[in-house]
Amino acid sequence: MMTPHNGAQMGDFAKTVLMPGDPLRSKFIAEEFLENPRLVNEVRNILGYTGTYKGIPVSVMASGMGMPSIGIYSYELYQYYGVENIVRIGSAGSYVERLNVRDVVLAESAYSDSTFALKTSGATEKTMYPSEELNAIIMSKADELGINCKKAVVHSSDAFYTTPNVGGWQDIREQTGTECVEMESFALFHNANMLNKRAACILTISDSFCTNEVLSAEDRQNSFREMMRLALESAIA
Ligand code: ADE
Repeated sequence: MMTPHNGAQMGDFAKTVLMPGDPLRSKFIAEEFLENPRLVNEVRNILGYTGTYKGIPVSVMASGMGMPSIGIYSYELYQYYGVENIVRIGSAGSYVERLNVRDVVLAESAYSDSTFALKTSGATEKTMYPSEELNAIIMSKADELGINCKKAVVHSSDAFYTTPNVGGWQDIREQTGTECVEMESFALFHNANMLNKRAACILTISDSFCTNEVLSAEDRQNSFREMMRLALESAIA
């Protein structure tokens, strides 16, 4: 079985796939955290690997950036490769003082004015929800590991660069109640719900619109490790 965007065979992916945006991060996770990682996809350099974590099969594959990209890859994993759970592991910009750079965040919902859901399935909702079951597993693992994981309402934006005439981040925050911004969760949650599968999204805050702080590469790596431990331990729970 192959799709236009994935060269893996049926059975190459584990039931649970961790999805960073960046293909090189996927490679790093596989090589650093998985036992016996095997490259299962490299179409368009969207590197995908399957290995084991503490003896249990886990996969990791990049999503690329934005909803069209994660929309394609998550759909194919769920629909054609028998994947049951996708946990996005990404970064986000904070709209609120409660969420500081380095914080680990679990998406409790994703708001978007993207047309992704409408175009995909006719869904008109502007908020999509992750799996309650996965979120419960992740929160209880965070407790167990002593990781302060904050639940937050996520804004899934179609644009990274915006001009003032479309409204500032404060307007978006006030109008939507969102607390941080990334670019993928809404589409991932939509696909999971449409296909009766499960999705969750863990984020580290990499930049703050409130304080203008931006994480250095080294800090990113450290907080990323905390998120990775949480994602991997949750994946095998
Ligand atoms: N991911 C991390 N920071 C972001 C930002 N400021 N906007 C959109 N996506 C992001």
